[in-house]
Amino acid sequence: MPNEGSFEAALKRSDEIRADLPVHPERYCMLTGDRPTGRLHLGHYFGTLKGRVEIQNMGIRTNVLIADYQVITDRDTTANIADNVFNMVVDYLACGIDPDKTMVYVHSAIPACNQLMLPFLSLVTEAELERNPTVKAEQEASGHALTGLLLTYPVHQACDILFCKGNIVPVGRDQLPHIELTRTIARRFNERFAEVFPEPDAVLSDAILLPGLDGRKMSKSYGNSIAISMTAEETAKVIKKSKTDSERTITFDPEARPGVSALLTTAAVCSGRDERDIADEIGDAGAGALKAYVTKAVNDYFAPIRARREKLVADPGYVWDVLHDGNAKASAIAEQTLGEVREAMGMVYGR
Ligand code: TRP
Repeated sequence: MPNEGSFEAALKRSDEIRADLPVHPERYCMLTGDRPTGRLHLGHYFGTLKGRVEIQNMGIRTNVLIADYQVITDRDTTANIADNVFNMVVDYLACGIDPDKTMVYVHSAIPACNQLMLPFLSLVTEAELERNPTVKAEQEASGHALTGLLLTYPVHQACDILFCKGNIVPVGRDQLPHIELTRTIARRFNERFAEVFPEPDAVLSDAILLPGLDGRKMSKSYGNSIAISMTAEETAKVIKKSKTDSERTITFDPEARPGVSALLTTAAVCSGRDERDIADEIGDAGAGALKAYVTKAVNDYFAPIRARREKLVADPGYVWDVLHDGNAKASAIAEQTLGEVREAMGMVYGR
């Protein structure tokens, strides 16, 4: 983190807000999003999707963005993007996002949201953009030169959050620098022109970070993830292929036994049980029995979600309608906010 003080402060505000969400749902507007670079997996589900649905069901205004322009921040292709977007909407709906309560949209379809980028860019300095640790890490991982879009995408993310006056943003810790920049942009805009924007807060999940099947970060590119969209058979296959170790007795020890422990954690989040209890129960029955247990736990948990998925995939017209409706709603909100921005800046001519 660039500044431990601001991290501590963000964490404290996040805890206070989480306690207040069920008490004052009317105070909040949630906005969060995902990049459509592939299929959503169990890490996404337990890390954020489940929490979004809970927030939605508390009666809080919820908005979920499919951040398609962010796909080209660190890669030079948009291959499969329409398929990824389609499956993302399907996953959201299957996991409990209700389009009557939650607006689902892509930011490429919202010109007025993107137009906020111009005034917002004027509110940040080159130095502020360059010291963003998440941008630096993404650039290094991409192996590409730093593009203008990668450098400035945190400002675009501020547009995503502020166009609907979102004030809570459920994200992982890696996203905190972007939320900090969004707060800075909102504050500077309000000071320089007129009070238009809230200063949003990150809401950090208390859910454990679900590791990939090998104990590393769960990522499609590591081949260690279980996608929500997998069939029961595909799930069994990736679990079967996952690497354990030569010690027969099952114990929970993430440091020394990353593979076995990741399997135990996966079973624990799906079954609501404790890793150590599951380990004790399996004991000397070994990795084969553990894998069978994990497979059943995952497949049982996701069976209803996958059944809803199947129905949705069979009705693509409905899925696209959900997105198009969300785009229309988001456009209307963005036009309204852009109008306020022009007004604040005195850019209203002849009326
Ligand atoms: N940057 C986020 C990610 O990589 C996705 C995202 C885009 C987002 N716009 C957002 C998240 C606005 C929260 C709010 O996961």
